[in-house]
Order: sequence, then C-alpha cells, then structure tokens
Amino acid sequence: MSAATILRGRLLRWEGDPFEIGDEALVWEEDGAVAVADGRIASVGPAAQVLAAHPGAEVRHRPRAVIAPGFVDCHVHPFQTPIIASWGAQLIDWLNGYTFPEEARCADPAHAAEVARLFFDEQLRNGYTACCAFGTIHEAAMDAFFSEAQARGLRALGGKMMMDRNAPPNLCEGAQEAFDRSAALIARWHGAGRLGYAIAPRFAPTSTPELLEAAGALARAHPDCAIETHLSENPAEISWVAELFPQARDYLDVYERFGLLSPRAIFGHAIHLSARERARLAEVGAAVAHCPTSNHFLGSGACDVAGLKAMGVRVGLATDTGGGSSFSPFATMRAAYELGQSRGAALTPAQLWRLATAGAAEAMGFGDRIGDLAEGMEADAVLLDPEATPLLAARSARAESPASLLFALIILGDDRCVLESWSGGRRTHSRDS
Ligand code: GUN
Ligand code: ZN
Repeated sequence: MSAATILRGRLLRWEGDPFEIGDEALVWEEDGAVAVADGRIASVGPAAQVLAAHPGAEVRHRPRAVIAPGFVDCHVHPFQTPIIASWGAQLIDWLNGYTFPEEARCADPAHAAEVARLFFDEQLRNGYTACCAFGTIHEAAMDAFFSEAQARGLRALGGKMMMDRNAPPNLCEGAQEAFDRSAALIARWHGAGRLGYAIAPRFAPTSTPELLEAAGALARAHPDCAIETHLSENPAEISWVAELFPQARDYLDVYERFGLLSPRAIFGHAIHLSARERARLAEVGAAVAHCPTSNHFLGSGACDVAGLKAMGVRVGLATDTGGGSSFSPFATMRAAYELGQSRGAALTPAQLWRLATAGAAEAMGFGDRIGDLAEGMEADAVLLDPEATPLLAARSARAESPASLLFALIILGDDRCVLESWSGGRRTHSRDS
C-alpha cells in the first residue's frame, strides 16, 4: 500500500438517506479528515483518529474548507456543451433548432474530442467527479468521451445515442447499425477501469419499434450495462409518444414492452407520470434522474421528487446540460429546491446534498463505490470554500448549523467555491493553481 494522503477540514459524509431517516443522516465533523491511499478511502472520521491511524502521511489541512463526496451527475449530454444557453424553445423545438444541428457536428472526431475536453474541464471545475452521459449517434464521439474520462481517472457511464427516426437523416441509423456500434463500444469500454456502458436509445419519439427492439436485445446480451433514456419530460412529447405507440398503456410501457425497464435503467426527467407509471418504477426498482435546471429552462414542469422517494424510487440529481442551464451542482441543487417549493415540498439541505452525491451514485448503480466518504470507497471528493465571495463569507459567518452553512452554499455558491476536486485519490482540479 502506498503512503496515505490526508485531507483535513470540515467533513461531510452519510449515515443513511435523509429521505428515509431524517436529516441526521448527514454526519458532520467540524475537525474531520479522510485518508486516501491507492485510490480508495483508507479511513475517515474525527481528525485526531485519522491522523493517529496514518503516521507519516502527507496532511493537507484547510480548517475552513468543507470536505465532501465528489458530486455525481447522473444525466448529462457532453456534446451539447457548445449550445448551452440557447434561447427560447420547449423540448421538441429546442431539439430540432439547436441540439440536432450541434450533435451532427460530432461526425468530426476532432470536434468531438475538443468538446469532450471542454466538458470534463467544466465538470471538474464545478466539483463533479462522476457522470452518466449520452453521446451522439457517432461511435468516435463516445470514444472521445471515454478516453478523456479514462485519462483523468474518472468514474463514468455513457452510451452512444441510438436513433432511427424523427431526426435529420445524418443523425439516424438503422436499428442493426445502432446495435452493432453500441456493441463495439461495449466491447472497448465497458468495465475498462472505472468506466461502464449505458445503453442509450435517445427517447421513444426518435425510435422505431425495431430500434427499441435492438436496444432491448443489447440489454439482454449485456445485463451488467446500465440503460439510459428520457421519460415524460414535456406534455407535447407525451402526446406524440401516444400517437407513435398506440398499443402502449403509457410512456413507461413503451420502454417496458421492449425490455428496457429494469433496475439498471435510469429515466431522465420523469415529470408527468401517471399513478401506474410511478408504481411500476418503484416495483421494478428503476431510477429517475431529476434535472431541475433543465426543467426550469425548457419550461417542462416539476418532478415530484419527494413523492417518488417516498415510494422507494431511487432518484439522483443531474445537470442535463445543454438543456440544463448550469454545470454547477449548487445551481442544480438550488433549482431542485425551487421546483420543490413550487410543488409545496421544500427539500432540506441534507436531502438536496444527498440527491447530488449518493442519490445520483445510487441511480447509476454505484452507491457502494462513490457518493460518500466511507472506508473502502473510491476516493472521489471535493474541497469547498464557504467564503469564496464576500456575500458567502458574510452569510457563512451567520450560519448557526452545518445545514445552514450547506444551504448558503446551495443558494449562493458557484464554481468559485470549488477549491479542489479529487478523483480516485488524485487531485484533478485546483482552483488556485
Ligand atoms: N429528450 C430527448 N433528447 C433530449 C435531450 O437531448 N435533452 C433533453 N432535455 N430531453 C431530451
Ligand atoms: Zn437528457
């Protein structure tokens, strides 16, 4: 075992899920530490205890910094990064007007590689150390995504988009091609180090039954791959799905008919669900990616996070950039708080922080590896500066509890608060160097 590095500061970790056991699930050590060795967490707890367990370790002590699990983004579109902040449309017009033309540019592998670099730079600068991503239909773009994640030592899931109708011809492929290209990527990348594959039919409207059949066949052939797609984001989309798949009972049933509803499935948005769909998600154990900045930005609606969690559905928080309007986990938690308020359910700071860390990790199927600072887990962490701006410093000075300090970060924080990101025991971003 190599020598440990100790990060010492104010430590945040989990002992349970605040949606289940209340806010005491968030454990706070005012003088805490985490010891990292060989990419994993060797020990964690009160600083005195961790220091005693690792004599001779390099100690990096920042008394005011908050040391927290790295943020996890369980639904994002790296190759939409160049069109983030595009004005004025709801889902279908936004896809046709901005998204498809941009994704088509990824036919050029050099462009895709450049965007993948920009994407991961932004994620790490904002404190995200793991993600679950949609590519474009292009195999080479996914190679660029995985290569870049691997070079940085990140845990990541991703899959090439599968599409065969209702999109420009240069973004459509045959169902067999979608199958073959996805299978080739699975062979190259699934299980390579910290990487995994997510089978990614874009959503029902850009899929013929044959394409969904191909995606289901892939899922049967590779049961340890994740599945990712979009579900019930926008009312016009839902009506369109009912026209395209008249035999299906509802939107979720379209996916279930083709073997795409499983405990490994992560459904983006899941806003306008029927009682049957909610119950079925809970029964099967599928996960939901809540994308609140995107839902605000595209005028999609507000997911019932508290209701889904109460039914036992795994829910994680996600940026959904470029439909999402920010790379920041603080903006994302803030939007989740605001959307909760609009539904009459104010999520607590502990609940919001959980969704952005362990919740998103659980949605990806990695709850035992990332999203928390616990012995044996992979060493993905962030160091946060709660005094990064004059206003934050003033507000933090008034914080009467850890929850109050965390809520100030959620509401007022941005990338200036991210001092360092650590991925698999290596520092992958430093604000000040
Ligand atoms: N539904 C199908 N594709 C997309 C996409 O790229 N972004 C969002 N927000 N919703 C989608
Ligand atoms: Zn999406």
